[in-house]
Amino acid sequence: MQPAVLNSTAQSTKIISPLIDPFGRKMDYLRLAITDRCNLRCQYCMPAEGIPLKSHDTILRFEEMERLIRIFTNLGVKKIRLTGGEPFVRKGSLEFLKKINEIEALQSINITTNAVLIDDVLDHLRKLKIGSLNISIDSLQKERFAQITRRDDFDVVWANIQKAVKLNLTVKLNTVVLAGINDDEIKDFCFLAKEWPIEVRFIEQMPFSGGPPEEKILSADQIIGRIKNSFPNLVENQLPNSTARLFSQVDFMGKIGVIAGYSRTFCSSCNRLRITPDGQLKTCLYDQSAGNLKSLLRQGLSDLEIEKAIKQAVNNRAEDGFESERRTNRLYNLSMAQIGG
Ligand code: GTP
Ligand code: 5AD
Ligand code: SF4
Repeated sequence: MQPAVLNSTAQSTKIISPLIDPFGRKMDYLRLAITDRCNLRCQYCMPAEGIPLKSHDTILRFEEMERLIRIFTNLGVKKIRLTGGEPFVRKGSLEFLKKINEIEALQSINITTNAVLIDDVLDHLRKLKIGSLNISIDSLQKERFAQITRRDDFDVVWANIQKAVKLNLTVKLNTVVLAGINDDEIKDFCFLAKEWPIEVRFIEQMPFSGGPPEEKILSADQIIGRIKNSFPNLVENQLPNSTARLFSQVDFMGKIGVIAGYSRTFCSSCNRLRITPDGQLKTCLYDQSAGNLKSLLRQGLSDLEIEKAIKQAVNNRAEDGFESERRTNRLYNLSMAQIGG
């Protein structure tokens, strides 16, 4: 492959050698799970007692993550999303955000959070190149929120969502649709997208960490059907590389999204790579691991050698999430907190 795209900086001219998979997809979005720990215990994500946590030295250090991000930007990555567990339970996460904000080649830093701990962080985020703040909230009812998350944090989450919107941050709400538990709130969530300039996204439940049998999962199509019953004038308007099918109408300030994470209908445009908290590289949410980047770092490999390993993994990328799933067999034992979502 020819090196492409010249990216000039004051000191040097960097040659970016983009990551293109065997199906022609350019991989320019990296999702980095900075911790497997979480302050909530969402029922669809983990059991009440939590998941066995990795020890500190098994988890990537911030300096290691920064080095990896720089390597990935040399390979054309422009967008990063920090996930977890809950990113803000890790001590030093704000300092880490400030540090990676200095990486010029990164166009946007995005975060997926449960918003419990972000009150003091929000003002700082305004000064960084934050793309979107994706906030998980599965119920607008305090008691139900506590039932789903096994923690009584609704008031703080709700206050922080409002604060983030007032600060003009780009906010997307993530609601995992749980049949018989919160699916009666779909309409209430849609009204938020009508009144606020935010994306409200309904997510198909994926059977990580257990979950109901397939026939009990509300599919993206069923969710869209429910939404259109209440809002028949919605028009679909797709964005490139979006996980969500997006809908809006003239009297809406925001948008409604539906994410077919389990039906996997958006794989053909998927531009995402993932790094788990313990440094495994994943070329698909549904694959096991495409290589252990932490061991490469700790064996003392050079940036070029690590770039080579990443390229190899991308060259071996499966066509879609179904093919990735066929290549593995232990996947569903994992919690999303161990993968990063
Ligand atoms: P944007 O960067 O704003 O597009 O957000 P996102 O939807 O990629 O990320 P977010 O962390 O908010 O995830 C929302 C839901 O989409 C979660 O349930 C993720 O597990 C799921 N998701 C994100 N990326 C993928 C993917 O590549 N494949 C599948 N199947 N699901 C994904
Ligand atoms: N199915 C679908 N989405 C999930 N998430 C966590 N577990 C699941 C699951 N089993 C979502 C969280 C968060 C995002 C990173 O992934 O709600 O918004
Ligand atoms: Fe925590 Fe996210 Fe899992 Fe909920 S879904 S327990 S917020 S990691």
